[in-house]
Amino acid sequence: MSEQQKASEVRKPQHSEEFKAFVKEEWAPRSTPAPERAAVAPYAAARRAAVSAAYEGQRLIIPAGGLKVRSNDCDYAFRPHSAFAHLTGLGADREPDAVLVLEPLEAGGHEAILYIKPDSGRESDEFFADSRYGEFWVGPRPTLEDIEAELGLTARDIDGFAAAAAKDAGAVTVRLVRDADTSLTAELDAARVANGAADESMAELDDELATLLSLLRMTKDEWEVEQMRAAIAATRTGFEAVLAGLRDAVERGRGERWVEGVFGLHARHEGNGVGYDSICAAGDHANTLHWVKNTGDVKDGDLILIDAGVEVDSLFTADITRTVPVSGTFTDAQREVYDVVHAAQQAGMDAVRPGAKFSDIHDAAMRVIAERLLQWGLLPEGVTVEQTLDKDHGGWHKRWMVHGTSHHLGLDVHDCALATRAEYLDAQLRPGMILTVEPGLYFKADDLKAPERFRGIGVRIEDDVLVTEDGHENLSAAMPRTSDEVEAWIARVQER
Ligand code: GLY
Ligand code: MN
Ligand code: MN
Repeated sequence: MSEQQKASEVRKPQHSEEFKAFVKEEWAPRSTPAPERAAVAPYAAARRAAVSAAYEGQRLIIPAGGLKVRSNDCDYAFRPHSAFAHLTGLGADREPDAVLVLEPLEAGGHEAILYIKPDSGRESDEFFADSRYGEFWVGPRPTLEDIEAELGLTARDIDGFAAAAAKDAGAVTVRLVRDADTSLTAELDAARVANGAADESMAELDDELATLLSLLRMTKDEWEVEQMRAAIAATRTGFEAVLAGLRDAVERGRGERWVEGVFGLHARHEGNGVGYDSICAAGDHANTLHWVKNTGDVKDGDLILIDAGVEVDSLFTADITRTVPVSGTFTDAQREVYDVVHAAQQAGMDAVRPGAKFSDIHDAAMRVIAERLLQWGLLPEGVTVEQTLDKDHGGWHKRWMVHGTSHHLGLDVHDCALATRAEYLDAQLRPGMILTVEPGLYFKADDLKAPERFRGIGVRIEDDVLVTEDGHENLSAAMPRTSDEVEAWIARVQER
């Protein structure tokens, strides 16, 4: 028994037979109707059809994953694996331990079967005694009928999964999303090896599936675009609440945490939560790219960089950065840096159109940054813009912006991450892709190569952009970006 199990055993109540009988009696019958078909259901079915077409005759296993212990007997809030969410349409906190199986049919195609742990009813001890799954503890859980009605696929009890996964083992090729549930992966690997599969070929089959599932998410359907619009609108609400409360952040001390909390409040209120840990980085902290400690003060005269996104209940997330002057007005040096980052971002955005390469966005933004660094005299003596932009030998400019300018965005903040380089960095942009454009300039306080007036200034501007048929749409355009607009925005929301 693990220490954790022992610890919860100590506190486990002992239930008498009399109590067990009594607690199960006289509950009014459930009159809740079956859920309506979810709006996502036909879209999820179309995604499954695309996977089915790619792997005719093969069994595909996509687990949701299980609950993860945070400490002792407390779990993290459940978040299903993104591939599972994409192919089932199940979002926030649904359904721990479920597994989607695309079972090949003799007639061709696949049957989608969702194995879940259904509500075990009020007759079971689980009803009152199981703090992870029992209705007394976590509320009623869906029945198989509920899931079928909601999603339009076959639902079965998870108890039948192991036998179903092993059926015809050896004869049927099985592919698995490996990183969703490590213990299930270990069990299935053992079963596959027992049936003659070689380790390497198994890994290759699974990697191919993971890559295909990443690629499938690269262009968003109309339902997904709507989810992203909702995530971005909620993110704007969160940012505006932060701006409205900046005085509080200054006065309370540890203002970065205040900012994190205010944004998190709105993320949780309007959506499932934050899509990733918010970066609330005032002053020199902005120069630590993933500053998520958020322990610092927020001071007048400093900038604060806020990189945050609301994840809506379907689990699609925004990813937006604004860098704003705490006092409401940029200093000359802050504005000088800010305006260059804005120009770089605009150049990156202008490169977003069908047929352009993904890497064109970064290249366009970096050219603006490199040109200005040269003008400022920051590149080594004699180095030209072309030399520093040379990918094999140059790169001096990256001292002040070491990260990429773009990534795909969707269910994961860094979406489609298992696509190959050819399908990601070197690929052409297509309508329906959603990407960030997020250049920055970072001058650390102790950077002796930076002009003194810039030291301690870090700026990033990040927007979420949809590739359209004839160009792009900045989905986060309602959040001001230029230095003048940002100042006016702060004044406006603080007046309300
Ligand atoms: N928030 C992480 C990123 O911008 O990629
Ligand atoms: Mn970001
Ligand atoms: Mn980003």
